[in-house]
Amino acid sequence: MSHDADKEFDGIRQADNKLPLWYTVSFIGTLIIGLVYLLYYHVFTDWSQASQYAEQVAHHEEQFPGGSPVESGVVGNPFRGDAAAIQAGQETFVAVCGACHKADGTGLVGPNLTDDQWLHGNSEQEVYTVIMEGLLQPDQWLQQPAKGPMPAHKASLGSTRVWQVIAYLEDHNQNIEVPASTE
Ligand code: HEC
Repeated sequence: MSHDADKEFDGIRQADNKLPLWYTVSFIGTLIIGLVYLLYYHVFTDWSQASQYAEQVAHHEEQFPGGSPVESGVVGNPFRGDAAAIQAGQETFVAVCGACHKADGTGLVGPNLTDDQWLHGNSEQEVYTVIMEGLLQPDQWLQQPAKGPMPAHKASLGSTRVWQVIAYLEDHNQNIEVPASTE
């Protein structure tokens, strides 16, 4: 052990030992990690908060073409009260939902959608979620006796046609709660 006699103070002597191996290795390790991080994120890829945000916006626009309902001043269903959309929604309902909910929506295997009884919530958003995501697990089936699953329609119909179906349902059922307007 070498020691510098000049660096003694109050009886405390400073030694000049070699750094322990683990210390040197982790020090050099942080330099390497820093260099790799710098090159990867700032030189060779365009990873950034801004590009991630742009990606999410593009994804959203793909899902909801025609701009967000909030931007257009309508809250919730952009087709509520739109005669052409109600007509299109009715056609979809008869073709796709009629087998289980009856063509007029009064219910067969699936529950009546024209009354004021709602198993899974009567807000527009809850109805939307049920139709898009379906009720596929037995613990979601609330009809007694349980009559099986309600299929998801996210893939087969997509957001636009599901909102049209809801516009049709809303036209026939005043018990669907619509969100308060922001205007
Ligand atoms: C294969 C039969 C089937 C088809 C097709 C079907 N549903 Fe259903 N639906 C059901 C069943 C069964 C339930 C009730 C599940 C439970 O809670 O027990 C249900 C529940 C619902 C509910 C919730 C009702 C409530 O009281 O909360 C809505 C809304 C609904 N369906 C709308 C639709 C719409 C709109 C379509 C067409 C796009 C559709 N369903 C197609 C069988 C079906």
